Amino acid sequence: MATSMLLALLATIPLVPIISLWLVKVLTRAIGWSLESQGRDRRAAIVAKIEKDRNAVAEGHNLFPDVEDGWEKIESTGSAENGQPLRDSWSGIVGFFHPFCNAGGGGERVLWAAIAATQRRWPNAICAVYTGDHDIDRSVLVSTVKNRFNITLQEHSLVFIYLSRRRFVLASTYPSFTLLGQSLGSMFLAYEAFQLLVPDIFIDTMGYAFAVAFCKYLFPKIPTAAYVHYPTISTDMLESLDDTTGGKGMHSGAGTGLKGKGKKNYWRIFARLYGWVGRQIDVVVCNSTWTQGHIMQLWKPKMESSSFATIIYPPCPVEELQAKIKVTPESEKARDECVLYIAQFRPEKNHSLILRSFAKYYHNSRSKVKPKLVLIGSVRANTPDEKHIYKLRLEARELKINDATTFICDAPFLVILEHLQKCSIITNGMYSEHFGIGNVEGLAAGLIPVVHNSGGPKMDIVVPYEGEIIGYLAETDQEFAEAFEKVASLDAQKRYAMRLRGRASTERFTEAVFAKKWIEQMDKLVQMQSSR
Ligand SMILES: *[C@@H]1O[C@H](CO)[C@@H](O)[C@H](O)[C@H]1NC(C)=O
Ligand SMILES: *[C@@H]1O[C@H](CO)[C@@H](O)[C@H](O)[C@H]1NC(C)=O
Ligand SMILES: *[C@@H]1O[C@H](CO)[C@@H](O)[C@H](O)[C@H]1NC(C)=O
Repeated sequence: MATSMLLALLATIPLVPIISLWLVKVLTRAIGWSLESQGRDRRAAIVAKIEKDRNAVAEGHNLFPDVEDGWEKIESTGSAENGQPLRDSWSGIVGFFHPFCNAGGGGERVLWAAIAATQRRWPNAICAVYTGDHDIDRSVLVSTVKNRFNITLQEHSLVFIYLSRRRFVLASTYPSFTLLGQSLGSMFLAYEAFQLLVPDIFIDTMGYAFAVAFCKYLFPKIPTAAYVHYPTISTDMLESLDDTTGGKGMHSGAGTGLKGKGKKNYWRIFARLYGWVGRQIDVVVCNSTWTQGHIMQLWKPKMESSSFATIIYPPCPVEELQAKIKVTPESEKARDECVLYIAQFRPEKNHSLILRSFAKYYHNSRSKVKPKLVLIGSVRANTPDEKHIYKLRLEARELKINDATTFICDAPFLVILEHLQKCSIITNGMYSEHFGIGNVEGLAAGLIPVVHNSGGPKMDIVVPYEGEIIGYLAETDQEFAEAFEKVASLDAQKRYAMRLRGRASTERFTEAVFAKKWIEQMDKLVQMQSSR
């Protein structure tokens, strides 16, 4: 009797993980349900307020005066009828989880561009931004975004939901186990977000994958998405622990000894957890091939679907450069044999490699007009950058190219524009740069890229366009020097054609293409939401 009971008990052991997972599901669902019912009135109030504002704005105004200026060009390729962009009547709330939205950097540009595209496609939708910045004034922000990024937001259907527990995602809150701490902290922050407003679609734009998975558990019916700029833990990091050459960054070789072993195991476990979390997200978008590669490895989707981890490049100000800089046979005559490198003066940008390469090219050049090198970059005050640029100047002197080399620190945009107009080659010396927006700007301005044969410049930017090359890849100073010479000695006609091709290829990075691709992904989420 007793033995058979014991046996029966033993037989249930394999069920324990299943049962506990089931318990977690039931529990989170109950919490989600209670969040939803507690927040129902507040949600209704927000919706009502926006309806009212919308009606006020709509009276006598054309809500979308800019329909004429090119928007329908993007839209009509897909769902438009009789030439009019299809403006869907879907009216849900899209929640953007972006705790640091005042930072004004590249990540914010993506956020605002995504919101602007969403608002145009679904004018009745409400875009809610969960932020920890409490001092945001909506109308000031709308005009800042307009001035800074040239992105037009519809003010009345944009709401800010202010979070007060942002410290839970700050690295400084967790002296040890930072990754895990921040990730669990983001769930805590997301919980606060849902207490304030439960959206119909939830999108993370800052890399808080744990918050998105948590949303999925609380509200299984809410479609979720993540725009990933950078994986929380990268496979490079995991590998660097075993590295003994010391050449792989700050964690290099840290995987030895007892402490190192512990760290290694912690990172491995975290990477597994991160992978599991990532697989809960419905729509995953990456900002580059580099990020996509890492996300594919870490999140290992069950079904190899081509739609997992789509790449949508962040919008670059390509249109503006194309408008401001001419690439014509006349402008071609005004260009000097000048190599341009736009990058912060920091060691990893490897200006030294470019100096040595240029020196080889310069001293071997037999052309009448000697080539020039222009280095433009920012120098962060009171940092080792200042010493770094001093060393670079010395190196230029030693290489006997100081007369041909110009260093420009913290150049205003107009000065950059002038050099983009005048130079012939854009270069980049950094190993495995994730992207390098300077290369895109150079291409858009008609410069021919000679870039490091690695990272984003190789995978995303200097790739053949319509089957023909638009620039050159190099690794050693010899290869760089040869590539510079190759561009300089190209037949004028061919060189001009290459400039035009390069410029045309930057179409991939425009705001218009970003908007089109963003809407494709949003459309999936809206479909999911409507069918649930
Ligand atoms: C993607 O995001 C990372 C982190 O912000 C950044 O370093 C990289 O340049 C971005 N890639 C693109 C294509 O903008
Ligand atoms: C701002 O965007 C509009 C429309 O997208 C474009 O026509 C205009 O040239 C842009 N202005 C600048 C300064 O980039
Ligand atoms: C710069 O490039 C050279 C040649 O590829 C390489 O040996 C060196 O380590 C690089 N320096 C830095 C700081 O990346």
